[in-house]
Amino acid sequence: MPFILPSSLLQTDEVALVLAFGKLSVLEACSVLGRSVQRAEAPTERVSVLHVDHLPRDRVTELSGVHKIAPVTAELDSSSGPMDELVGLMASYLEEKSNFSLSGYDIGEDDYEDLVRSMLDGLRERGLRKVRLLRPKGNELLSERVLSREAFDVVAFPYHDGFGLGPTVWVPDSATMRQRGTRKPIPHSDIAMSPRLARTLVNLAGLGPGQTILDPFCGSGTILIEAYAKSLRCLGLDSRASRVQETREYLRWSGGGVSDKGYDIRKGDARELSRMLRGTKVDAVVTEPLLLPRLDARPKTSTARAMIEESASVYNDALASMAESIHSECRIVVVVPVIQTMDGDEVSITLDGRRVGLRLYQPGPVGFEYPIRLSFESTRWVRRGVYVFEPRS
Ligand SMILES: C[S@@+](CC[C@H](N)C(=O)[O-])C[C@H]1O[C@@H](n2cnc3c(N)ncnc32)[C@H](O)[C@@H]1O
Repeated sequence: MPFILPSSLLQTDEVALVLAFGKLSVLEACSVLGRSVQRAEAPTERVSVLHVDHLPRDRVTELSGVHKIAPVTAELDSSSGPMDELVGLMASYLEEKSNFSLSGYDIGEDDYEDLVRSMLDGLRERGLRKVRLLRPKGNELLSERVLSREAFDVVAFPYHDGFGLGPTVWVPDSATMRQRGTRKPIPHSDIAMSPRLARTLVNLAGLGPGQTILDPFCGSGTILIEAYAKSLRCLGLDSRASRVQETREYLRWSGGGVSDKGYDIRKGDARELSRMLRGTKVDAVVTEPLLLPRLDARPKTSTARAMIEESASVYNDALASMAESIHSECRIVVVVPVIQTMDGDEVSITLDGRRVGLRLYQPGPVGFEYPIRLSFESTRWVRRGVYVFEPRS
């Protein structure tokens, strides 16, 4: 897995994550990193700082909802403050004529320039006179370019009335994940979720290899393909035979990671799971039931409410059915539509898990408000929101 700098640099108690999906990415990090997360701060929409105790570096490599991870090496009061420790660290990795870049998140142009200048000055004072600043478009070096090591990348963001900075130590390898989306042998729908989002949702289920995941509204299998790549056993259900065929074809194409076939995809109704599963239980459910019809414009709030009401019974019936189908201590991850209306409202489905013996998943000390709305990924006018439930013990 692609560590750009030695993983020992993540032996820190403050780590910055550049988020792919806003709060959902923070939830994924809290779930995957477990008890090591003591507290989370959200200095900007794009960056979260986790306060950690013994960060499990092998688990970091499982994250998919982040673009970059960096230890917070410098905390400055102003953009022109001294950044000795960070520059010292950079100097130990940079050679004469190396490239470096400063990726600024939610930082104004003037502050960006000041930070770059004090970094360059510091490097020159340390004798590195020919290092070059790579200035990416939008002041952010994308993680693919970090991965190809075009430059030593430093992330910077507003933090505690000043700025937080740190070197990018790890980025997820999204190339293989992206290929599963772009090279798939089945028709592409432009409202289908991205493999990166699907992987993040699967990670929220908290399962290990060989455990069984169910997507009872599997569509063409975007969620299951990511689960399969993590060596999970996959059960899929869809009410349409053509979707069942597509998911099977997709899984066959990907090869997957389990030694036997490792998947079972059937035609069926998600509201009748116990009949479909004949009483057997699964280790997690991850699913996106209905994304509603494509909208060409924002609807009125009243129209949006009517659309939501129409699909609410499917969600509620299916949730009850899912709750009966999981082992204790297992999670249910459900994506709901969040419609943005022409009146400026957001209308969504409220899922009440208590009714069916579930509670909202709240990992460790960080509280999350559900549904967690996705930042940065949206289908037109219908955004996605995510619920994660676990059984009430
Ligand atoms: C939004 S799509 C799922 C897309 C999937 N996440 C993907 O990315 O490929 C919802 C799917 O649920 C199926 N569906 C609708 N009602 C169902 C029901 N009661 N039981 C099972 N499947 C159902 C539809 O045929 C559709 O393929």
